[in-house]
Amino acid sequence: MNIELIDFQEHVNERGALVALEERKNIPFAIKRVYYIYDVPQEKRRGYHAHRDLEQVAVCLKGRCSFLLDDGKTKTTYTLENPATGLYIKGLVWREIFDFSDDCVLLVLANHYYDTKDYIFSYQEFLKAVADDTSAC
Ligand code: TYD
Repeated sequence: MNIELIDFQEHVNERGALVALEERKNIPFAIKRVYYIYDVPQEKRRGYHAHRDLEQVAVCLKGRCSFLLDDGKTKTTYTLENPATGLYIKGLVWREIFDFSDDCVLLVLANHYYDTKDYIFSYQEFLKAVADDTSAC
């Protein structure tokens, strides 16, 4: 699966902690878009889509949330709760985000502007895109 955890360097001293994110350095792409998700009721799940062509790094700045990631063959779950860890997602991956803590703030960096045409909202359509992608290889 095109998923990787990235450990960011933490600059910690008696005044607190700082993490710097830099495109094409500790972030593997040029950053076009930044958004953040917060105030998610604990029982709500977000996502339920895949992207045709998007790279993202998600960082849980505060609190905790979990990602269900599915490449059409394998499903895996990651729990993010460390602001010095990034979850890098690339390629055809179905994602659902759940189990948000009340205080969760989830930052997402992406390599493209927001574009609804890049989204796959149907799981069946996602599986078809994976099959088409595999047969093209
Ligand atoms: P949505 O895609 O439903 O979020 P999630 O995938 O986390 O469930 O997005 C919620 C709203 O925000 C929707 O109206 C689209 C808008 N939006 C933007 O305007 N820009 C963005 O970069 C994103 C990700 C969403």
